[in-house]
Amino acid sequence: MKNAPENSRRNFLKATALAGLGLGLSGITSPSLYGARGDLHSSVRDISLTRPRPSGQRPVYNLTTKPIDRVRVAFIGMGGRGNTLLNDVLNTGFCDVTAVCDLVKSRAEKAATKIQNKFGKTPKVYGGSENAWEKLTEQDDIDVVYIVTPWEWHATMCVKAMDNGKHAFVEVSAVVTIDECWDIVNASERNQKHCVLLENCCYGPSELFVLNMARNGVFGELTHAECAYIHDLRGVLFHLGSEGDWRREYHKKLDGNLYPTHGLGPVCQYMDIGRGDQLKYLVSVSSLESGLTKTLKERKPNNGKHTGEKYICGDMNTSIIKTEKGRTIMIQHDVISPRPYSRINALSGTGATFFDYPARLALDKPGDYGLSAKSSHSWLNDSDLKAMREKFQHPLWKQLQERAKHSGHGGMDFVTSYRLLDCIRQGITPDITVYDAALWSSIIELSVKSVASGSTPIAVPDFTRGDWKSIKQLGIATA
Ligand SMILES: NC(=O)c1ccc[n+]([C@@H]2O[C@H](COP(=O)([O-])OP(=O)(O)OC[C@H]3O[C@@H](n4cnc5c(N)ncnc54)[C@H](O)[C@@H]3O)[C@@H](O)[C@H]2O)c1
Repeated sequence: MKNAPENSRRNFLKATALAGLGLGLSGITSPSLYGARGDLHSSVRDISLTRPRPSGQRPVYNLTTKPIDRVRVAFIGMGGRGNTLLNDVLNTGFCDVTAVCDLVKSRAEKAATKIQNKFGKTPKVYGGSENAWEKLTEQDDIDVVYIVTPWEWHATMCVKAMDNGKHAFVEVSAVVTIDECWDIVNASERNQKHCVLLENCCYGPSELFVLNMARNGVFGELTHAECAYIHDLRGVLFHLGSEGDWRREYHKKLDGNLYPTHGLGPVCQYMDIGRGDQLKYLVSVSSLESGLTKTLKERKPNNGKHTGEKYICGDMNTSIIKTEKGRTIMIQHDVISPRPYSRINALSGTGATFFDYPARLALDKPGDYGLSAKSSHSWLNDSDLKAMREKFQHPLWKQLQERAKHSGHGGMDFVTSYRLLDCIRQGITPDITVYDAALWSSIIELSVKSVASGSTPIAVPDFTRGDWKSIKQLGIATA
């Protein structure tokens, strides 16, 4: 964290979370309080530069740790998402939750009661002030800190957790700026601790199915992917006591892709990005902003409390990324338009094309798989697709789907926590490293910069500092 941005980041938080929570500070939501953009941009002029590895630091892409019987987990942020993740962590059967923290202390206390009732063990409770979490990271009996707070806190909390000897498991997006990308990479390397992005969409049944097909050569040579976060959040963005306390602020400050990792994470895993290929540059273009302003005017949410707010984030942002190997990735962000949810989740290669929402697969040679389809000119029919699903269902999904049944987002939330915590238990390198967390999140500031400069190409910094050429392909994970 740099000094000036650090201070303004905290002011930013105060002005959003505290005001949203109704904790006073009259007039705090006035945009003039934050200054123009300020803390949401990196301190350096050229954000594309790959920054040298500080001396004494070692890479962590193959970091292994001592296996442990039970994983001791602490939580910072017991809001909507924190509570979902708490259930998943408790349901793994091999974790103890030893500390919980929330700015609103009653939320941490409520979580502690839940843990006590279910397991007979009371975690230590922190909260009531915006820095109470720092003490949590100093507590001894913690292996992993789950960071489930608003985005502006993620980097600071990850760095402190790792500096205090814990692995950081951070919600999406890991960070907001390129400075923060380097902050978490350096903290992870400096401390030889993992910084894992809790990208649950990498563990969705469709995504794991596509990954398994890609690994088994069904797509041939991969050439192109499309992905997105398309989710009508007009209600959520004004929902006070939750994301409406802070998430809308980004729509006032940034015009670009504000939430890239749900779409990009799985695609990067299909394409071995950071493990044999690397993102090279992107161009980004935003539509006009219209829908959020219209919502504000028409719905007058929270009895007109937000009247006068000005938004700059285009309703639809589209970026195109070129990789070092010459592949292309199209990624979109739209949380405003009235349309059904989609992450697109598409992959093309010389052997097949897959599109999700709904799932469709076309094969160059369907006969090779004993299917009834004759050519790639139509999507496979239901029974052919079912046969492919059965043949290429990912082993991790097969193993955990029954236990995941009651977990969030169709079960993928449980699979995510189970698998990533199991990596810590076994002492093996997690599937999602700090280099992935930084790279996937970097699209936020890179897209903002491209949009602001008339959609000019912006080079993507290499957070592996050249190691992507030798880092091995992600294996087929099992539980
Ligand atoms: N992976 C997913 O599917 C998914 C879904 C929802 C949210 N998320 C992510 O989870 C994170 C949290 O989102 P949410 O929906 O739970 O938001 P939320 O507003 O409901 O919860 C955030 C919590 O953090 C607390 N908090 C804020 N500042 C704090 C501080 N300084 N110290 C301690 N606690 C603090 C707030 O009081 C609140 O309880 C975000 O990063 C979001 O993007 C991910």
